Amino acid sequence: MKESQPSAIFLKDYTVPPFLIDKTELTFELDEAVTIVTSRLHMRRNPASGKSTCPLVLDGGEEVKLVGVAMDDYPLPPEEYRISEDKLIITATADEFILTCETVIEPQNNTRLEGLYRSSSMFCTQCEAEGFRHITYYLDRPDVMSVFTTTIIADEARYPVMLSNGNEVERGKTDEGKTVVVWHDPFPKPAYLFALVAGDLAVKNDVFTTQSKRDIKLQIFTESHNIDKVDYAMEALKRSMRWDEQVYGREYDLDIFMIVAVDDFNMGAMENKGLNIFNSSCLLASPETTTDDSYLRVEAIVAHEYFHNWSGNRVTCRDWFQLSLKEGFTVFRDQTFSADMHSETVKRVEDVSFLKTAQFAEDAGPMAHPVRPASFIEIANFYTLTVYEKGAEIVRMIHTLLGAEKFRAGSDLYFERHDGQAVTCDDFLAAMEDASGVDLAQFKRWYSQAGTPIVTVTDTFDEETGTYRLTITQDTPPTPAQPTKLPLHIPVRVGLLDKQGQALSSELNGTTSEEHVLQLTDSEQVFEFSGLSACPVPSLLRGFSAPVKLRYDYSTSDLLLLMSADADGFNRWSAAQQLAVNELSGLIKQAIDGQAFALDSQLVEGFKVLLGDSSLDPAMVALILSLPSQAYLSELANPIYPAAIKEARQYLKTQLANALRGDFERVYHEHNVQGAYQATAKDIAHRSLKNMALSYWVETKEAGAQQAVFEQFQSSNNMTDQFSALSIAVTSQHDKASEMLAAFYDQWQTEPLVVNKWLMLSASQESDHALETVKGLMAHPAFDLKNPNKVRSVLGGFGQNVAGFHKEDGSGYHFLADQIILLNKRNPQIASRLCTPLTRWRKLQPELSLKMKTELERIMSEDLSKDVYEVISKSLA
Ligand code: PHE
Ligand code: ZN
Repeated sequence: MKESQPSAIFLKDYTVPPFLIDKTELTFELDEAVTIVTSRLHMRRNPASGKSTCPLVLDGGEEVKLVGVAMDDYPLPPEEYRISEDKLIITATADEFILTCETVIEPQNNTRLEGLYRSSSMFCTQCEAEGFRHITYYLDRPDVMSVFTTTIIADEARYPVMLSNGNEVERGKTDEGKTVVVWHDPFPKPAYLFALVAGDLAVKNDVFTTQSKRDIKLQIFTESHNIDKVDYAMEALKRSMRWDEQVYGREYDLDIFMIVAVDDFNMGAMENKGLNIFNSSCLLASPETTTDDSYLRVEAIVAHEYFHNWSGNRVTCRDWFQLSLKEGFTVFRDQTFSADMHSETVKRVEDVSFLKTAQFAEDAGPMAHPVRPASFIEIANFYTLTVYEKGAEIVRMIHTLLGAEKFRAGSDLYFERHDGQAVTCDDFLAAMEDASGVDLAQFKRWYSQAGTPIVTVTDTFDEETGTYRLTITQDTPPTPAQPTKLPLHIPVRVGLLDKQGQALSSELNGTTSEEHVLQLTDSEQVFEFSGLSACPVPSLLRGFSAPVKLRYDYSTSDLLLLMSADADGFNRWSAAQQLAVNELSGLIKQAIDGQAFALDSQLVEGFKVLLGDSSLDPAMVALILSLPSQAYLSELANPIYPAAIKEARQYLKTQLANALRGDFERVYHEHNVQGAYQATAKDIAHRSLKNMALSYWVETKEAGAQQAVFEQFQSSNNMTDQFSALSIAVTSQHDKASEMLAAFYDQWQTEPLVVNKWLMLSASQESDHALETVKGLMAHPAFDLKNPNKVRSVLGGFGQNVAGFHKEDGSGYHFLADQIILLNKRNPQIASRLCTPLTRWRKLQPELSLKMKTELERIMSEDLSKDVYEVISKSLA
């Protein structure tokens, strides 16, 4: 352990920056051995800080070597500056001055993938959140916004493409024959949006004409062997640009917009001004190598990063506690965009399912934090599902409370009022309030209170008056540092059905409608619906109108009714999930108690109707058929018995498969899409239902089904079908599963993104010797510890492997801990993310819980990065 442990910083301690940087001029002399960075910072004291004498403190990194520093072109003598804990401190300055710094870095040795680093044969950067300080000394905070001019000097033979933010304004040669390119970005921006790329890259060009008839040059750069896989991303970009004009009135501002794909990247993608950098897994797509899910992900992420140009770049965050200001809003924007491009209900089900599985688990664990955290040790740990996904739910609730028109007025006001500024979540809410007249004072608590509220509903019906009463309570459980909670403002969208499933009109507070939005603001409230002739079935929380856990004691017949007849497509799915959860809970208990499974599943009838109704959207049918995942059932359980959950799911799936074998076989054949692959909503829907049907049919162990899996694997013309067949073979323990895995690798070994899928699936293959398999994968030539995608594939796949990861002897946990320790210093961000499964230790069944805790303690005894230290120490606290 270290002598002194990293300490937290607090939102309440925020103060404005004592200095400003009006202009930033950077020169990069790129080279394989060392890169020399020269900065000229046009600085002045910030009048708003009220400090006229304080020293200048610049952020740096331990690997940044300072060669020299000058003030107004006079070299500073050593006694006038010092370096302490990665900071460059200059004792005395004028009120206005130019600071010049020359620093040396070694991008080729940068394994953290923050700052300037090498990926394959290129140089690239990643500066969010605090990566810029690993390039040179700077005021690396988002409220310091500056106009950047960047000069890149490199050998043109090796780096013919040299890019930075903004427009290329100059190009020439040095005396030594190197190429010099100068870029200028006219929009002031914080350092986290800076980007530089240099490499031997191929480019795809296109043009987008904006609503005001300006032509924008669009460019996507990749290594030459990948340039045939960017057409889909380019089309997605143009759709995003059009959508942002139409739906938010936002037009692109520079004359050029560039995207670069890199193989080594810690996250999905980055919205650097005018020069987005993408993890190649989130950009490249081709029918043969990319699944439907990945196509949709590419489209969503291209949109997300593009949308940041307004929600993030033109209006940015004052400090990193406000991260959700840009992320929550931008996720909401990309979710709505994807819904508009495809199916609103399907998109909503997918997003909510993810939220309820992963964000709810985070909000119930030791890392639970408010959407606007009050403190952190390492900001990189706060790019979380809470900040992103729950943050997007908050914006969605504002949309629900204001209505579409006033929400748009609020968004317009926000962009107009704060263009060019670094602002807070309060500013966002104030714009929404001012434009709409809606009071969001209590609503604001959603930003500061962690934990998932539990909303409990009970009802009564008064035959005499025809009045239906809902009593609704809310309660948010304690989370770290927040033992008690206040009531939140929760919009609850409700419809009422009669026993035949017909929508009923009712009156609430003088409004008659088939649907009402209840404003739940107290810890307990009663809502009275009148004008009813019989007790209705309530359809509660339609469209998942708030990120809460809903408790209402539905009967099985009510759930079956909602599942088949509710006007709200989302709640039809939700009812089916609830029914499956109810049945699975019983089965899980049987497994824990060591009883033989016994169940007469009520889902059979419901599923039979769905499988026979050709008027339904096949994508929705597939979603309704998908049983709650192992991860979601684990989130609901306390304590978690991983093996019992797995067996219970398997049992229910087999029961359903046997009861409906003919239906699954028929549906499988009916939805076989013919012809060339297209990533359209319609084709994707057919493929998803077909493959869902196959996954059931194969559980009957019929020879025909086994054969169908194998044939689909061999003969598909697209990765969705091929990979579905392979996954089905692996999960159903098909006789040929291992043979197929081997054949798949042989076929795709030259396509790294496909190899990643193979690594993931291989690591998830359940068996007694799963750990040996995973160790073998990490020693395989296809593996590379420096590449986050590969690490995530293998260890992510292993994390889903119940037999391997949760093995009783604790060897799975021990292995993961070893990898965390190995990566802790090399790549702290990735190491920290690998800790997530271990943060759930308190909820695990007792024997496993102790084994996991032992590993957490072992990690804790190491010399840890801030990133890993924060997660592990909070998990043990
Ligand atoms: N800001 C990026 C996004 O959400 C995510 C990101 C964060 C990427 C930090 C890299 C590093 O669009
Ligand atoms: Zn984002």
